[in-house]
Amino acid sequence: VAPAGAGSEAPAPPVCVLVLGMAGSGKTTLVQRLTAHLHSQNSPPYVINLDPAVHELPFPANIDIRDTVKYKEVMKQYGLGPNGGIVTSLNLFATRFDQVMKFIEKRQNTSQYVLIDTPGQIEVFTWSASGTIITEALASTFPSVVVYVMDTSRSTSPITFMSNMLYACSILYKTKLPFILAMNKTDIIDHSFAVEWMQDFEIFQDALNQETTYVSNLTRSMSLVLDEFYSSLKVVGVSAVLGTGLDEFFVKVSEAVDEYEREY
Ligand code: GTP
Repeated sequence: VAPAGAGSEAPAPPVCVLVLGMAGSGKTTLVQRLTAHLHSQNSPPYVINLDPAVHELPFPANIDIRDTVKYKEVMKQYGLGPNGGIVTSLNLFATRFDQVMKFIEKRQNTSQYVLIDTPGQIEVFTWSASGTIITEALASTFPSVVVYVMDTSRSTSPITFMSNMLYACSILYKTKLPFILAMNKTDIIDHSFAVEWMQDFEIFQDALNQETTYVSNLTRSMSLVLDEFYSSLKVVGVSAVLGTGLDEFFVKVSEAVDEYEREY
């Protein structure tokens, strides 16, 4: 792992890595694996868990939303269902995020990375005021990267793949931050098929030709539209379970931050 800001006099600020993705895509497992990887490189990260409903965390979190808000009690107190409970817990936590920022600032000199795990249901974070507040607070103070985790093994149909990419694209537009697509679970299936689809429109069309629904016509048009999104997208194949692809992952993170800082 290249030290952030190597060669400069003052230590560079930590890079915030915000891990987002559909439920079950492997966010928590990836954060666990990234944490272990950084520890093995003598670069312990600062780890934040923003999922109030997670049962057991497989990594030691420096800040855990569950220490501040008890989501089951929030559900009872406000008469909410599970999703409302998670959103409200995140809202309550966001009101105290300035304290989290102070903790991160104190770690400026010791951690190169801040890893942030987000709630299972992606929209709880990406479409909530609290998710926006937290993202903006981090990104306005520290170099920040959004990592969209995709379950590669569940994206082998061209239509499912396309809908996943549209979702990724909408998050890029919403956050306007450096963006990395982590194709996870490459121990089940190699991600090369998806990379080919992104690089070669005709190969994607061939895969689509197996489908004859209205949706496939729409997907055909959408894939042209997404061409621009693909052309600047940073993609890395990883297996959170095996820990493969992580060196390349951190190279992409550094590249994304550098490019963003050059442009803005
Ligand atoms: P939420 O709990 O809904 O937030 O899911 P998540 O996105 O945090 O996913 P999580 O890490 O809980 O993983 C979901 C399932 O996928 C678990 O059974 C993991 O063991 C499995 N999984 C995660 N990463 C990988 C991987 O790289 N390969 C394989 N084969 N399974 C994985």
